[in-house]
Amino acid sequence: MLKIAIAGTSGLAQYMGHYLETQTSHQFIFLSRNPNPGLSAKGWQVIQVNYTDAKDLHYKLTGIDIVISTVQGQAQLALIDAAAHVHVRRFIPAEFEGLPTLRPQSDILDRGKTAALTRLAHYRTYSGMEYAVFACGVFYERFAPGGMAALQLGQSIYVNNEGDYLMDIRRMAAQIPYFDLAGLEVRICLTSAQDVARFVVAALELPEWPTEFTMRGDRMTLGDVVGVAENMMGIHQFHRVGHSVESLQHSLEYAKSIGNMPEQWRLYQLLATATGRYDFDEANLNAMVDVQPVSFRDWLYTVWSRSA
Ligand SMILES: NC(=O)c1ccc[n+]([C@@H]2O[C@H](COP(=O)([O-])OP(=O)(O)OC[C@H]3O[C@@H](n4cnc5c(N)ncnc54)[C@H](OP(=O)(O)O)[C@@H]3O)[C@@H](O)[C@H]2O)c1
Repeated sequence: MLKIAIAGTSGLAQYMGHYLETQTSHQFIFLSRNPNPGLSAKGWQVIQVNYTDAKDLHYKLTGIDIVISTVQGQAQLALIDAAAHVHVRRFIPAEFEGLPTLRPQSDILDRGKTAALTRLAHYRTYSGMEYAVFACGVFYERFAPGGMAALQLGQSIYVNNEGDYLMDIRRMAAQIPYFDLAGLEVRICLTSAQDVARFVVAALELPEWPTEFTMRGDRMTLGDVVGVAENMMGIHQFHRVGHSVESLQHSLEYAKSIGNMPEQWRLYQLLATATGRYDFDEANLNAMVDVQPVSFRDWLYTVWSRSA
C-alpha cells in the first residue's frame, strides 16, 4: 500500500482520487490551499497547505511515497523542493498534455512546467527522487457540453469554455489549421481526463519508471476530429474555416494590437496544435498497463447524448 498526496483539487485531481479509491487500496490525501468541505463531504481527506511555507510543506508531506501534482508555477516548485527534502520516492508533475520536448523556449503556455522538470531532473540525480511526465495530448473534455469549465478543468489555460478550442459543436463551426509549416496534416493525440487518471493510477506500482510516459485514447487529424462531431450532429459539414500557421500568427498579432486576451489564448492554443505540440508516435503507457481508454467518438456521443 502506497501513501499518495494529490496536490490540487480541480477536476483532474478529483478523478485521480476517484480511481485511487475505487481501483486500489492506496491511502491518499488532497493538498489544498482551502479547506474544501465539498471534497471532505465525499469522505476524502483534505489537508490545507501553504505553498510559501517550506516547513509546512515538509510536515504535510512526511511519510508520503508519491506526489501527484496538478498545481503549477511557484507552488509546484515549492512542492518539488519539499518532496525531495522529506524523501518522497516518486513525483508526478502537472504536465498531462503534449511532450515537454516539443515546447518551444520561452513558451507563453509553459506556466513554470519547464522549470519544474529541470528541478526534478536535478533531484533525480542528487537525491534519488524519481519522476515521470505523463503526456496524454489534448483532453477530450475540451469538446464537452459546457467545455472543460463544466468539469472543473482547464482554469489555468483560460481556453476552457464550450467552443473555445478548435470547434464549437453547438454552433457547428470550426477553425482548423489543417497543415503544419512543412505542409503535413496536423494530428493530435487525445485522451479523456478520466482515462488519464486511470492510466496514472495504473502506473503507480510499475517497478520501473521512465521519465516520460505517453498515453492516448485516440490519434487523429484535426479534420477527422471535427468530422466525428459533424457525424454526431448529423450534418455533412460544420462551417469550417481553414487556417495556416501564418494566418494564425497574423490573427494573433491583431488580437494583441486590440488587447483581446481571450482571443490571444485561443490562438496560442491553436498555434501550439498546428506546430505538433499534442502529437506523438508512440504511446508507451498504453502497452504497459491494463487500461482500455474510451475512443473519442464513443466519448463524444455519450457526453452529448446525456446533455440533450
Ligand atoms: N491536455 C489538456 O488538454 C489539458 C487541459 C487542461 C489542463 N491540463 C493539465 O491538467 C493539469 C491541471 O490543470 P487545470 O487547469 O485543470 O487546473 P489548475 O487551474 O491549474 O488548478 C489546479 C490546482 O492548482 C491549485 N492552484 C490554482 N491556482 C493556484 C495558485 N495560484 N497557487 C497555488 N495553487 C494553485 C488549485 O488547488 P487548490 O485550490 O485546491 O489549492 C487547483 O485545484 C495541468 O497539468 C494542466 O496542464 C491539460
